[in-house]
Amino acid sequence: MDAPLESRNASYGRTLAAGLFMVLAFSAQAAGKPPGFAVASAHPLATDAGIEILQQGGNAFDAAVAVSAALGVVEPYSSGIGGGGFWLLHRERDRFETMVDGREMAPQAASREMYQDAQGHAIADLSRNGPIAGGIPGTPAALDHIAARYGKLGLARDLAPAIRLAREGFPLDARFAKFIVMESKRLSPAARALLLPDGKALAEGALLRQPDLADTLQRLADQGRDGFYKGATAQQLVDGVRAGGGIWTLQDLAGYTAPERKPVVVRFKDYRIVTAPPPSAGGVGLAEMFNQLSVLGWTGNNGVHSQQLVIEAMRRAYRDRATYLGDPDYIEMPLQRLVSPEYGRALAKSIQHDHATPSVDLPAPGQPKRAAKEGVDTTHYSIIDGEGNRVAATVTVNLIFGSAFLAPGTGVFINDEMDDFAASTTDSNAFGLIGSSANAVAPGKRPLSTMTPSFVEGPKGVLVVGTPGGSRILTMVLLGMLDFFRGADAQAIVSDPRYHMQYLPDQVQFEKGAFDEQAQAALAGMGYKLDALSSSFGNMQAVLWRPAQGTLQAAADPRGVGTARVVLKNAR
Ligand code: GLY
Repeated sequence: MDAPLESRNASYGRTLAAGLFMVLAFSAQAAGKPPGFAVASAHPLATDAGIEILQQGGNAFDAAVAVSAALGVVEPYSSGIGGGGFWLLHRERDRFETMVDGREMAPQAASREMYQDAQGHAIADLSRNGPIAGGIPGTPAALDHIAARYGKLGLARDLAPAIRLAREGFPLDARFAKFIVMESKRLSPAARALLLPDGKALAEGALLRQPDLADTLQRLADQGRDGFYKGATAQQLVDGVRAGGGIWTLQDLAGYTAPERKPVVVRFKDYRIVTAPPPSAGGVGLAEMFNQLSVLGWTGNNGVHSQQLVIEAMRRAYRDRATYLGDPDYIEMPLQRLVSPEYGRALAKSIQHDHATPSVDLPAPGQPKRAAKEGVDTTHYSIIDGEGNRVAATVTVNLIFGSAFLAPGTGVFINDEMDDFAASTTDSNAFGLIGSSANAVAPGKRPLSTMTPSFVEGPKGVLVVGTPGGSRILTMVLLGMLDFFRGADAQAIVSDPRYHMQYLPDQVQFEKGAFDEQAQAALAGMGYKLDALSSSFGNMQAVLWRPAQGTLQAAADPRGVGTARVVLKNAR
């Protein structure tokens, strides 16, 4: 992406004076330093790993490597070195912002039809289960790159807490124990040997030691990326994957790259939002939604009518996700147009106040075969250090335990990120998302993602935020930001009930409490099909620094088991 992908809405760019005021306001914020450091992640032991590294003098980037690696050990059902992710970085010294793209790449033997039957329909089992579903992992390369280019302590020190957790073990929490039982039939023989020794699932409180994973992480720590993508680990991975029916080669592993990409920047009211560019659909989606809300003069003060406009903005953004987006290294995308305020205005034109637009009335590339499922996989963490450096990282192995295949001898769960490609243009993926040829499988290509790690900066301070949740990630991040704009604190941002619309299926899913009975009746009266979910979704992690007040908050989503810790300078 050559030109900066920046979206300025009308209210921001209206006058030069207003623009100047904004720049001054941002600079004033930049002048101060946070009163300490903070980490919020989906697991207490991963949060502790990040705090440990910060207390040793590491910066937010070192802590990010430590938290990523630790999450891969303590919640391998969500992420790990067999998967990938996006690391959004902000370096305060020069306000440099970048996204390290550790998204998995399709192996060279992959092909457009590899997950299709003779009629051209997707075979879901193939792209979700077993090592044929695995893309070449990106997390090890991303961690090596972040530690080397942005960290202070070096990869080996950053990985030390994770290696210790893998070698010495840790007690399983109830969530982990539940996933073992839930996924036991999918798990490969090596995974079963680890998690169901003697055929019996490890229970809550059991000590899980992962010596193979500790050795694999140690080789990464000792040799950097070559310790994973070449040599003994690479050979074990390729042997295991191929024996299990996969198609990886040593060349695929050696050829993996984790490029840096320029983030999408969105302006909404007095806020600057920095977020994930393709191969994430997140940033473009946020830009489209905020630009529509801006044109509509959205304030959030109009009860269910405000929510109705948000739902319609979501609908239109998800239509475009399916139509245009994919790997920027492979396809041309009209990105500047999609994130422009003019395009937001065009989208918003068809929004009727107090009336649902049926999705079939918006031209679409295809129909989904099934509804979106609960996104309990993937994970996110947010970090600010004492200098003001920030990391928002969303990392994943895709579905729970990824492909459920543990490569023998490595301790590494292989992702099933290939399911995030559009296996065919007539079927949806595991999240009910449809796709087009823009996101078709091709050798070396990265599948489109919804992961949306983000920063927001403006009058209410600095927010570092993100969440797992499959196709719902983007709308959760939007709602979290809307909360932030109205002055919500970090705990409210991660806790507030959520609603979601993704164009197809044409329905509004919502958590208990998102709409009261009156609002539900009003929305139904406007033509919305409501889907009241019996369970909650998401696992948002947020850090909120308010320079004007000198406060630093962190919060972990109460829906998960994570923790958030703030360490103030004078308490260190
Ligand atoms: N695998 C979920 C995502 O990347 O959006």
